[in-house]
Amino acid sequence: MSAMAIALIAPLLIQAASAADAPSASQAEAKAEATLRQMTPQEKTILTIGIMPLPIGPNAPKPPAEAIPGAGYIAGLPRLNVPSLRETDASLGVSYVFGLRKDGATALPSGLSMASTWNSTLIEEGGRMIGSEARAKGFNVLLAGGANLMRDPRNGRNFEYLGEDPLLAGTLAGHAIRGVQSNHIIATIKHFALNGQETGRKFVDSLITPAAAHESDLLAFKLGIEIGNPGSVMCAYNKVNGENACANSWLLNDVLKKEWGYKGFVMSDWGAVPNLDAALKGLDQQSGSELDKAAYFGDALAKAGRSSRAYARRIDDMNKRILWAIYDNDLDTNPATPGGTIDFAANAEVARKVAEQGIVLLRNTKGILPLAASAKNIAVIGGYADTGVLSGAGSSQVQGEGGPSVSVPLGGTSPWAVFFSQSFHKSNPLAAIRALAPKADIRFRDGRYIAEAVAQAKAADVAIVFATQWSTEGLDQPDLSLPNGQDALIAAVADANPNTIVVLETGGPVLMPWLEKTAAVIEAWYPGAKGGEAIAAALFGKINPSGRLPITFPASVDTLPRKAIDGFADLEPDFAGDPPTPDAKLTTNYNIEGSDLGYRWNAREGHKALFPFGYGLSYTSFDSKNLVTDGKTATFSVSNTGKVAGATVAQLYLVSRAGNPKLRLVGFQRVELEAGASTSISLSIDPRLLADWRNGKWVLPDAEYVFAIGDNAERLGAKVSVRLEGQRWVAR
Ligand code: BGC
Repeated sequence: MSAMAIALIAPLLIQAASAADAPSASQAEAKAEATLRQMTPQEKTILTIGIMPLPIGPNAPKPPAEAIPGAGYIAGLPRLNVPSLRETDASLGVSYVFGLRKDGATALPSGLSMASTWNSTLIEEGGRMIGSEARAKGFNVLLAGGANLMRDPRNGRNFEYLGEDPLLAGTLAGHAIRGVQSNHIIATIKHFALNGQETGRKFVDSLITPAAAHESDLLAFKLGIEIGNPGSVMCAYNKVNGENACANSWLLNDVLKKEWGYKGFVMSDWGAVPNLDAALKGLDQQSGSELDKAAYFGDALAKAGRSSRAYARRIDDMNKRILWAIYDNDLDTNPATPGGTIDFAANAEVARKVAEQGIVLLRNTKGILPLAASAKNIAVIGGYADTGVLSGAGSSQVQGEGGPSVSVPLGGTSPWAVFFSQSFHKSNPLAAIRALAPKADIRFRDGRYIAEAVAQAKAADVAIVFATQWSTEGLDQPDLSLPNGQDALIAAVADANPNTIVVLETGGPVLMPWLEKTAAVIEAWYPGAKGGEAIAAALFGKINPSGRLPITFPASVDTLPRKAIDGFADLEPDFAGDPPTPDAKLTTNYNIEGSDLGYRWNAREGHKALFPFGYGLSYTSFDSKNLVTDGKTATFSVSNTGKVAGATVAQLYLVSRAGNPKLRLVGFQRVELEAGASTSISLSIDPRLLADWRNGKWVLPDAEYVFAIGDNAERLGAKVSVRLEGQRWVAR
């Protein structure tokens, strides 16, 4: 064998060897049982409770020396070689915890940017990358895996999640988790479940039928768990049908553990445990216990175990589950230690790829984009584009080495005020634009004064307005406008110069009252560590935009299931989301839309979106045709009919069932094609996407099913009808 061949094969051999060395799920179970047998009653309480190893507040206990400042620490059992759990946030990279640790990390773009790639392989690479940084910093649990569906476009945490569709979000969450855990660390999937708003997040009660939940949010979690096999599930702050999600026997015992056979452990969200009883309802570990009213697990649990067989049984089960996750991910044999090396340059390239593939070209008239490198006069306006790119805030906030390029605090004196700061990553769009148009006269104006921006726009050939909509964990948005007068700024600039291009850095969808005045619009989301470069590359055609919306951009808030976020008008903005009085009640009725989120709601109600789910333009054109399907698999061809190479996302939708309209994404694949090239796509259709959940079973009616390829959820091609025989099956 040649040296070259050995070099090519060697990584495969190493991979195969480490896969063979990794314990199988059942080996991990046997090992967990063996350890459990050796544990004393006192030892059995240690893994069930954690602290926040951060010097926050005057009463913060001094964390043990081996704890790393981060989200959580759970002591281990050195006698039995069970490692402590050292936890950090979150889905977009290793979080910065307000600079308390001082070390930076590589920021992936927001979840919605990731979801706009529709690229499972790339998202897995992203997970692998952030997991490797967590490991290099000594963490063995990365609290990544945000998988809540967008039920309201005003939810402040939409940017952390993967959109509105269970197939897309669940698939991508699963791949992200798989990537994280490939580093021999545990990932979680969160926030289980139906955590659809931040307003009153610790007491809002999400009402939903089991059927609607199974066909939407729970399906996203189920797919994420099947693909990613996360060691842990993080239960949510909110209530579901009257019970706290972290003490909800239906969610945790019945659905997650019995119906799905989940073997890992349920960790609480921080400050989400209502009582000791949560242990019997399915919670396995109390995280960040200082944030709860009491340390319910640990000693209190041991006491309960001494007098109650139900508690004693649960204590064993809790330990077995936590140990299973530890062993299934080799935490004991492959320990993460601080001080590992991180190749920030290589990791930034992963972030750049995600940002590039996540950019969605929403509008491009008069062929204004891509801009020619020979452009002469460009006005760049607003959005701190001379400084960096926006990021979302809260526990998931990542900062690069040295912190943000600029951080704009929102003020306030509450202990949570530190969270409320708009931080920009050091990736400067203006510098990146200058690098790609070296001969152009490029002027920047910050956009604070409309008249000044207008004067610059008038004097330029092209005006590029950067608009930002910051969002954070702990707060929702009142509406879908751009804050701080940016809608008026864009309208005025576009009136002054018809060649106005708008670049959006938003946490979720926004309205665009100025849309028709503009020449082009790009949605860049929060584009991460290399976002400025990615935006410039899209503007100048160094890359061909290929992102597709993972959410619906509604035409107006009047078309949403709720006119406002429940409680928004009455509650004071409060990061913690605690009830204002002990008996305060707040409900949000998800039975309004049921499982018909976003595009499905619009289809059901006959609303047209501003931009539909699945939508995105390109600098080339594509044609998809010749759909053949038997309802289980589908094949069709996709061609690049334009003049440049590009990528599109082949999307397959169920359109109707038994003569009734029923719109649903049932398959997708991102395809890269050279100009003039064609390829054949083959997708398998998960029957759960065609079925209903009825009385504890998936039920596929004996009926006619109609499918179509879609450019997006509102632009569907020729229909193909198939008769499928009825079936019933259980969830596993
Ligand atoms: C968030 C979680 C996070 C945890 C730990 C909570 O406020 O909801 O997503 O993992 O804090 O920081």
